[in-house]
Amino acid sequence: MTEFLFKDHLAILQQRSADLLAQEALDALLIHSGSSKNYFLDDYAPAFKPNPHFVQWMPFLTEHPECWLLIKPGSKPSLYIYSPDDFWHMTASTPTGFWCELFDVQLYTDRAAQIKQMKVKGEVALIAEDYIEFLQCKVQHNPEALMHALHYRRAEKTAWEQHCIREANAIAVKGHRYTQRGFLAGLSEFELHQGYLSATVHLEKELPYSNIVGLNEHAAVLHYQYKDRIAPPQMRTLLVDGGAVYHGYVADITRTVSQGNQDFQALLSAMDQAQQALIETIKPGISFVALHETMHQQLFAMLCDAGIVKHDSLLSPSDQLIITRTFYPHGLGHLLGIQVHDIGGWQQDKHGLMAAPPEPHPFLRLTRTLTENMVVTIEPGLYFIPLLLEQLKATALANHINWALVNQLIPWGGIRVEDNVCVTANGVENYTRDAFNGLN
Ligand code: GLY
Ligand code: MN
Ligand code: MN
Repeated sequence: MTEFLFKDHLAILQQRSADLLAQEALDALLIHSGSSKNYFLDDYAPAFKPNPHFVQWMPFLTEHPECWLLIKPGSKPSLYIYSPDDFWHMTASTPTGFWCELFDVQLYTDRAAQIKQMKVKGEVALIAEDYIEFLQCKVQHNPEALMHALHYRRAEKTAWEQHCIREANAIAVKGHRYTQRGFLAGLSEFELHQGYLSATVHLEKELPYSNIVGLNEHAAVLHYQYKDRIAPPQMRTLLVDGGAVYHGYVADITRTVSQGNQDFQALLSAMDQAQQALIETIKPGISFVALHETMHQQLFAMLCDAGIVKHDSLLSPSDQLIITRTFYPHGLGHLLGIQVHDIGGWQQDKHGLMAAPPEPHPFLRLTRTLTENMVVTIEPGLYFIPLLLEQLKATALANHINWALVNQLIPWGGIRVEDNVCVTANGVENYTRDAFNGLN
């Protein structure tokens, strides 16, 4: 079943690239998997991250630098796998997967010799981070028009890509189930993270991003980057923003659990409801900026209902926004795919027209109108961030805030609920909720 999905995906990419190459008067695409570069003055390198363009064509070979794909319209794609003579490391061997018949696969040992052999008549688009010397053809390095068109199209996922993100969600949810149990068992951030890795069968370096595992006040640090080895004496809140990867495509899921404060618990339930209600409204044609703005209005209502905001009828819409941005300073979500923040979120057309978010929402990563087959995250939050609360306290709006209640809630940190959804013809498929419900 999935083999057919990949074959169809490859056929779509071939058609797409043939059309684009014809439009741009180019003859072939040459895609580099990437290079591995040592740390300064060292002989170790950071974990290898492949070129996302390479991954889209070749999701089964994502760990090898210096590989090449040569795409010529009307021919099988060629895959050149770099397998150096190296007795220190495990080198690539001839692959055997079902996909091998779809590519002309060759192993090579000498990079310079291989580059010289990749001769193409005509003009080639080289998609690579760095320009490559010695190519025996006329090269355009990352030609702008072609790149814009490819990036724009990547937002709408093929059935294969949807399958991979669905699977990545099923894997990540195993990790989230583990951490939710671990919270009740009193585990430290470090132990929760280690358990997440085991439950998802991922190495740290395979995660699409470094998991955020925040207990208590750490839940209010948006990209909290540490893992305390010792559990705190009181377990109040756990926020886990954890992902997983499946054939190069990723999940990006956040769950928050809490105990010991009914007001915080009520906010958590209200956020969960509001997030799902917002997702229910998604369908093709909806503006993501409008969704983000609606979420701010929902959050304002939540803050009023909770008694955190007082005398709300006296507040103008811009005052309301100053308050909600204090509690929810990030964007509602982003495109998701090969990259966690998949490219093209601000891109409005295939020619590369960009729309930055409106001025009050500088961190919004997606300004596109949603279309069928886009996969996005929906991740509203509500945080008690001392730095931002202090700034609000210094404004005339301070007397609209119940500071006694805010101070009570600060030790609970914050809330984020993040799902991965695919836009369908008239709604969404929620990969994350389906995985939690055992449906995928
Ligand atoms: N995990 C990063 C994000 O949610 O965007
Ligand atoms: Mn996200
Ligand atoms: Mn996330």
